[in-house]
Amino acid sequence: MKILSIESSCDETAAAVVEGRTVLSNIVATQIAEHRIYGGVVPEIASRRHTEAISAVTEEALKEAGIGYKDLSAIAVTYAPGLIGALLVGVNFAKGLSLALDIPLIPVHHLRGHIAANYLAHPDLEPPFLCLTVSGGNTLLTEVNGYTDFTVIGQTRDDAAGECFDKTARALGLSYPGGVMLDQIATTADPVAYPLPRPHVDGGTYDFSFSGLKTAVINLIHRTAQKNGEIDVPVLAATVRQRVCDLLIEKTLAAAEDRGHDTVVLAGGVSANSELRSRMSAECQQRGLKLYYPPLCYCGDNAAMIGVQASYEMAAGHLGDVSLNAVATLPIETNYLPEGSNS
Ligand code: KG4
Repeated sequence: MKILSIESSCDETAAAVVEGRTVLSNIVATQIAEHRIYGGVVPEIASRRHTEAISAVTEEALKEAGIGYKDLSAIAVTYAPGLIGALLVGVNFAKGLSLALDIPLIPVHHLRGHIAANYLAHPDLEPPFLCLTVSGGNTLLTEVNGYTDFTVIGQTRDDAAGECFDKTARALGLSYPGGVMLDQIATTADPVAYPLPRPHVDGGTYDFSFSGLKTAVINLIHRTAQKNGEIDVPVLAATVRQRVCDLLIEKTLAAAEDRGHDTVVLAGGVSANSELRSRMSAECQQRGLKLYYPPLCYCGDNAAMIGVQASYEMAAGHLGDVSLNAVATLPIETNYLPEGSNS
């Protein structure tokens, strides 16, 4: 069953053809260069660029898969969460294709897609497992009970880990998207010199908090500039990276132990972080836990991950129709129900 999947929740216009866990094509048109001028994603520009790119990206995905529209069994699309204008482009395009081809429409939650990116690379991975999902807008610890059954046990109380990386990178003068640059530059230094606070959330909770660290870094940079001092950028980047990873790793391992999980999974753009991957690998190995994370090509936004999750949503009967709308914020636990449905 070949599924054409569409992703347009932020600044990548993406289309893929997926059959089960096999990727037949995966095309991503990124807008990063354009948003870099502004130091972050400009929603209005993102929507416009999606509109311009989506037809060509879809054609390219079909061409690379060596198939035509008539060979498709279903259309999948990211409908939540994300930038509303950006999501709407993909949702309306997918609805049009599903109607024209008279094939099912499968709405997919973006973060479920990030988790499913792991299924593409790890044929043996199946629920249940504990997943740390870390991206630009989200940081959450989820029990994946089944392919479409999720329980959130912890989340950030303020900024996402990716946001903390991006904002501190920007304050350090690194270009957008800052998380990637900060990771690269941090690798060249030792994180000991700067006395930054350790992000901490009291109590036996699995929640996270990163805004205090972000503010401390920005204040440190401003104070140093006022005194005509100089920041050692690689050392500060390494310290920030270490602090963020400390909290992510501590909470994930505590949850795995307390709740009896033997499999830990990383997902989302920040799962590309080299320190997070290497330290989590070492910690999991020490504790006899299995660890999975996506290959770098599937960490960021892409449509292949949406396509593979779509096959599980379809099997569970979570199908959309013309009433499908984009949703800016939506818990990962919520299964899609068409408008007017009361079950
Ligand atoms: O999952 P993603 O592509 O988009 C969202 O759905 O939010 O995540 C993007 C985030 C950005 O904050 C970016 O800076 C961060 O992932 N990121 C990284 C790395 N690569 C991407 N953060 C830290 N280290 C990296 N290597």
